[in-house]
Amino acid sequence: MSVQRRLIIKGGRRIEGELSVQGAKNSSLPILAAAVLCRGQTEIYNCPKLSDCDAACRILSSLGCGCKREGNVVCVNSSAVCTSDISEKLMREMRSSIIFMGALLGRTGQCRMSFPGGCEIGSRPIDFHLDAFRKMGAKITEEHGYITCSAAKLRGAKISFPVPSVGATENVMLAAVLAEGSTEIHNAAREPEICDLAGFLTKCGAKIDGAGTGTIHIEGVKSLSGCTYTVMPDRIAAATYLCCGAITRGEILLTNTDPASLGLVVPVLEQIGCSIYSFGSGSVYLNARKTLKAPAMIKTAPYPGFPTDAQPPLMALCSTLPGTTMFTETIFENRYRHVSELKRLGAKINVEGQVAVVEGVSRLSGAELEACDLRGGAAMVTAALFAEGTTKISKICYINRGYEDIEGCLRSVGADIRCV
Ligand code: EPZ
Repeated sequence: MSVQRRLIIKGGRRIEGELSVQGAKNSSLPILAAAVLCRGQTEIYNCPKLSDCDAACRILSSLGCGCKREGNVVCVNSSAVCTSDISEKLMREMRSSIIFMGALLGRTGQCRMSFPGGCEIGSRPIDFHLDAFRKMGAKITEEHGYITCSAAKLRGAKISFPVPSVGATENVMLAAVLAEGSTEIHNAAREPEICDLAGFLTKCGAKIDGAGTGTIHIEGVKSLSGCTYTVMPDRIAAATYLCCGAITRGEILLTNTDPASLGLVVPVLEQIGCSIYSFGSGSVYLNARKTLKAPAMIKTAPYPGFPTDAQPPLMALCSTLPGTTMFTETIFENRYRHVSELKRLGAKINVEGQVAVVEGVSRLSGAELEACDLRGGAAMVTAALFAEGTTKISKICYINRGYEDIEGCLRSVGADIRCV
């Protein structure tokens, strides 16, 4: 049994310094899947070193693609995709592997994978994905825990989503770029990662209009070539590190980031009392050496609303601010699992359904915590930077799914953090 490594954080140190932000996990995953559609070599730059990206590379290799990483560059050669089955073992490593379905249908006309199932934060249904593929002509059977799809040739269709879905929007884009005719996606997700995927596909020869708006139009083409592409900066990692700067009442300069993609995160941190300056060079500076106060209401929503992925780290920050904050989580049904761990540090939080009421406290004290999901684990790290004494966080494999070297990043800006 491998000994689980833990993060040991001694709180009370101000974050001060400059930090380069990693590439976006939620952009690199669909772009890695999109490489299946390209005949030839694709070079993906700024691909973060994350366990989720490693899982995606293992899937690419299992499909017969050449896939190798050199630092933050992943090279994929999809000239010889030889199967369209993804094993249950690989699916269990990362449920968001469902994003390979659209690409495999587009490239090979078939796909077989085990049901991705839910995860720590919710049931994560995929009905939008499957309904869309059926509309595009795919035959889909679901039995014995497996989904089997086949389509001699996908045809363009008009797809409307009941609510914006990032993954379903991406999956339809991946299925539509090589389909016959045109596809229109209505009520499409508008997240910056959608624009990044569209940017990659367009560079490979796809015809896509409207990415980033609620209506995306795709004209099918015959084939896609490989390309060289740089993944956008990770806006959630950036939001997390800004919360780390703010909770320690310090100051932090983030470089290699995209201020515009931060959306409502910046106005919320300004409402709290932080000074924030964005620079055209792709940097964001935050100074929290002021008197901070709790924001009254935070409600998560699809982009450009407040991002659900930033809710846990922001909640950690709010638990240390004078005043009361009412959080409403509208995207996932079980995204307050970090609350019980934050309360072990002394946070005062009361959860009723989708609402969490945070009453700020002036001190937190270190404790032994257990990460329960990716962003919940990031919330624990954020709070531990403020807590007096030592906090030990176990099950950090959750955190490593989405944060590249969080220990080294935070240590480089003054945190007393180590991984043992
Ligand atoms: C993506 O998940 C992100 N993951 C999530 O980030 C992020 O929280 C989420 O988008 C929302 O922004 C990746 O990009 C890999 P959705 P996704 O489909 O695509 C419902 C992180 O921490 N829905 O936009 O799975 C769903 O239940 C992760 O980095 C259906 O009902 O999210 C949810 O309520 C966590 N049926 C809502 O839509 C479907 O077929 C939005 O989910 C699909 C979704």
